[in-house]
Parts: sequence; structure tokens; C-alpha cells
Amino acid sequence: MSTDWERKYREGFYPSSIEPHWLMQRFWTEIKFGPVLEVAIGVGRDSLFLAERGYQTIGIDISKEALKMAKEKFLEKHIRNFLLINGDAFHLPFREESFGCIVVFYFLIREKIDELKRLLKPKGLIIYETFLKRQNLVDRWRNPEYLLDDGELLRMFIDFQCVFYEEGLLKIGGKQKAIARFVGRKV
Ligand SMILES: C[S@@+](CC[C@H](N)C(=O)[O-])C[C@H]1O[C@@H](n2cnc3c(N)ncnc32)[C@H](O)[C@@H]1O
Repeated sequence: MSTDWERKYREGFYPSSIEPHWLMQRFWTEIKFGPVLEVAIGVGRDSLFLAERGYQTIGIDISKEALKMAKEKFLEKHIRNFLLINGDAFHLPFREESFGCIVVFYFLIREKIDELKRLLKPKGLIIYETFLKRQNLVDRWRNPEYLLDDGELLRMFIDFQCVFYEEGLLKIGGKQKAIARFVGRKV
């Protein structure tokens, strides 16, 4: 599985110079304290944005290639308040209530949602955005196992205080994307 990701990153499938996601730019001020964990950090676009704003950031990803690109970006900007871990999100090596914020973009492991909640400190923030199953109607095929049902992301965090929720077919970067976005606080 990780070898597929290595190949994608090596072949430039994910450009390394992309902007942080809109959801991050719009809601980062809701993060009251760190540290911040980004699950499936990829090339680090969102964690870099937060580290630049003073948050201690920890990113985990299964792809060494992605982490190499992420590290280069952090160091290019002389950022030192980050830690990158090459690991599997199925086995997160952290104690409960370790983080003030958890960030997940375009990655879904349903079985781990409860663990993400446990890893958050009380009043900690989750920032989550990923594709809906409907994405397969407008773009290349993706495995539906890793895509959300309509309303599912909101239901997953029903025990959180909702700061923002949006889902549907949205125009992003000139392309139609079927996504769900959630920002919420652990009560
Ligand atoms: C679609 S990319 C999203 C990257 C980044 N979050 C973004 O939005 O730009 C999915 C990422 O998940 C990582 N990944 C896939 N399976 C993983 C796993 N089991 N544990 C940790 N990372 C994983 C891949 O290496 C890849 O970087």
C-alpha cells in the first residue's frame, strides 16, 4: 500500500508547492492550544502553515517520499517546531489527550475516529476534510471504502461542538469536488 504512495509522490502526482487548504486558512484561529497532530500529512502544506504561526506540529505519514518533501519545505522556511513520523495511522503512537488540534485532509480510516477523539485534549479542535462517495461520479475512480457517505462526517463527530460543517459538490481550484468539511471542538 505504501509503495503506491511512494510512486505517486515520486512521479509528482502531488505537487509540493500547493497552498494550505481553504478550511485551514479559514479556521486555524479556532485552535486554542497545541500541539497539533496532522494525520497523513503528505507534503506538509497545512502543518507548515500552522508551524509558521507558532504551533508545535507533529505529522505522520506512511510515505517516506512525502515526508522527505515535507521536511525540505519546513527547512527551506527555517522552521524547527515540527516532528515528522514515518508511520501507519492504524497504529498511532501517542497517549490520550496529547493534542490541542488534530488535522486530517483527504484521508479516512473509520476505525480510528474514536482514537483521534481520545488523542484530543478537552476543548481541542478537529479539522477534517475529505471526499464523499459522490466524488466517483465527477472524477477518477477511488476506492469507496475510503470515501464518506453523505452526512457521515457530521455523524462521526456528533459528540463534538460543531464550529463549521459543509458538504456537497463544491467548486475548488476550478474543479468540481464532492467533499465534506468539519471543524469541531471536543466538549
Ligand atoms: C490524498 S493524500 C493527502 C495528503 C495531505 N493530507 C493533503 O491533503 O495534501 C493521502 C496521504 O495519506 C498517506 N497515507 C496513506 N495510508 C496511510 C496510513 N495507513 N498511515 C499514514 N498515512 C497514510 C499517503 O502517503 C498520503 O500522503
